Amino acid sequence: MNRRTIITGTGHYVPPRIVTNFDLEKLMSTSDEWIQQRTGIKTRHHVEPGVGSSDLGVEAAARAIAAAGIDKSSIDFLIAATVSPDYTFPGIGVQIGAKLGIPGIGALDVRNQCTGFIYGLSIADQYIRTGMYKRILLVASEVQSTNLNYSDDGRDTAVLFGDGAAAVICEPHEAEDGRGLLSTHLWADGRFVETLWQPYPTVKDKPYVNQAVIDNKLAFPRMDGKKVFVNASERMPEAVMTGLTANGLTVADIDLLIPHQANDRISQMVAKKLQIPLEKVVRNIDRYGNTTAASIPLALDECVLEGRVKPGDLVVLASFGSGFTWASAVLRW
Ligand code: COA
Repeated sequence: MNRRTIITGTGHYVPPRIVTNFDLEKLMSTSDEWIQQRTGIKTRHHVEPGVGSSDLGVEAAARAIAAAGIDKSSIDFLIAATVSPDYTFPGIGVQIGAKLGIPGIGALDVRNQCTGFIYGLSIADQYIRTGMYKRILLVASEVQSTNLNYSDDGRDTAVLFGDGAAAVICEPHEAEDGRGLLSTHLWADGRFVETLWQPYPTVKDKPYVNQAVIDNKLAFPRMDGKKVFVNASERMPEAVMTGLTANGLTVADIDLLIPHQANDRISQMVAKKLQIPLEKVVRNIDRYGNTTAASIPLALDECVLEGRVKPGDLVVLASFGSGFTWASAVLRW
């Protein structure tokens, strides 16, 4: 029997506070026009102090559980993806399990930045297909707004990122109807670590937390934006093509392409390279900014809620981010 993984429920949650480009204009030398032109972003959501990724993740998970119509006690494994955990350790997986009221099940934290969701989906898929677990909660959640440099020297990154969470429920599907996750493909190239990273605080320093890190504003993300842009625009279409080819499919078969929402110009470039009409490409970065690991499942849940994805549709996910890491997933919805 051909057992596949199927997504039976999706959910997302963003904190209520909306931050516009005009709000950011008050903090640094930037403009609504620059941000919209270069990135397509109009607004993003920011948490209030005291709210962590685990909190957003729990809300998203509760919505995915409700959408799947399952009892949360039937979840037998949890995978959490984030670049912004509440604490240095432990990760948010254990916290989400406890806050949801399902402590005890295994909880795995995935640290693959913007590709965290697809990496997590790939792991869930292996467990489901081998029969090890039958109901996996996969959560991706980010609170990035508290760790951005809102001054002129941080403006290239501060305007890009937003907070948000999304979750899916993964289960086995054994019907011969072609539905389910067809493939995942994962890549990484650590030669580009320093192109998009946050090197501080680092365990290489003693003490780990020290005044120089604060004084020199080192504890913030750093990025070579152009290099990231060029690589993302190349690797994502390649990842999509690898996924399609592995399944004997072509771009014409895609009903919905959900690229990681890093920059709307990157999404447009990906569409152009693949020669796929923009109507088939999901783009919501205008409202959320880059929510890193959460961006793809958040966009997926919006499609579900809007009725934009129907059973039998071919949905392709593609991501690229810090590491570099990149990935694709092909699903028959
Ligand atoms: N507001 C106004 N000006 C800004 C700015 C901001 N928020 N951020 C940077 N600038 C300035 C730069 O300092 C530069 O000024 P200079 O010419 O005087 O040196 C100018 O705008 C142009 O910068 P440049 O880097 O050439 O712009 P760009 O067209 O490459 O766009 C990014 C910058 C960051 C939007 C773009 O490179 C990008 O999106 N890269 C990918 C980032 C990404 O996706 N990261 C996450 C991946 S998961």
